Amino acid sequence: MAIKIAIANQKGGVGKTTTAICLAQELRRREYNVLIIDSDAQCNSTSFYEAKTEDQETLLDIFCADEPGRNCVQHTEKGDIIASDPQLKDAETMVKVDERRFSHLKRSCRELENEYDYIIVDTPPAIGVALKNVLAYVDYIVIPVEESGWSMAGLMDFAKAIDMARDNNEKLKVAGILIVKTKPNTKKSERMKDLADTLGTALDTKTFETKIRESSACAEALTEYCIPLHEYAPHATTTRDYDSFIDELLEVI
Ligand SMILES: Nc1ncnc2c1ncn2[C@@H]1O[C@H](COP(=O)(O)OP(=O)(O)OP(=O)(O)O)[C@@H](O)[C@H]1O
Ligand SMILES: [Mg+2]
Repeated sequence: MAIKIAIANQKGGVGKTTTAICLAQELRRREYNVLIIDSDAQCNSTSFYEAKTEDQETLLDIFCADEPGRNCVQHTEKGDIIASDPQLKDAETMVKVDERRFSHLKRSCRELENEYDYIIVDTPPAIGVALKNVLAYVDYIVIPVEESGWSMAGLMDFAKAIDMARDNNEKLKVAGILIVKTKPNTKKSERMKDLADTLGTALDTKTFETKIRESSACAEALTEYCIPLHEYAPHATTTRDYDSFIDELLEVI
């Protein structure tokens, strides 16, 4: 049975997509069977995988037409993906308001769980119908945070959403808080580690020992050239950080 992990934080631009892609790509490099699901209307993971959003079943069809997950999987050179769709920005009005509103993903993708070792879900920066479907579906959440007070503040609201999701998904666990885009050994970095630890206690989780350092190679590889970080810059600090974060993650889950 696949282990399902969402990379989520209601705040935008905190490295969710970067972390989801690096995690999926590295697990694949370690020869696991991996599926990534893009649940963000911005379609950033979908673009990285060069997946189609037209003439192709996507997450939109799962949310609006109960399309079986299997029909939505695209096999690309970078791995398997269920693509998002830009129309998902209107998901709040498009997804029917009924008792199944937050369980479309869970029901459509159940049968896929026997085919993968890991299912990684990239998520949107808002607590809406898409993220609620994800929280009802996954086993674990990894929460990337930047070293800024704002991203920490939003976490308490997110913690409430996670608690509510447990009504229908009681096994849902926060695997850990991942500090990203860090500039190490600064005073701020020390302070934020303390704050992250405090929030970790509130979320009944811990902060990963590994922090992901900022590097130009990371942004270039993923957003400019759409190349997995390991291929583009195998020795970059960020590449090594993601490797050791994944070692840690695999021990927790
Ligand atoms: N370790 C890093 N070093 C340098 N740049 C990074 C790093 N991690 C992420 N970035 C850059 O930060 C920006 C935001 O990252 P990303 O798109 O992964 O965030 P996100 O949380 O998915 O954003 P959104 O909420 O809009 O979906 C991107 O330009 C990305 O390339
Ligand atoms: Mg993103």
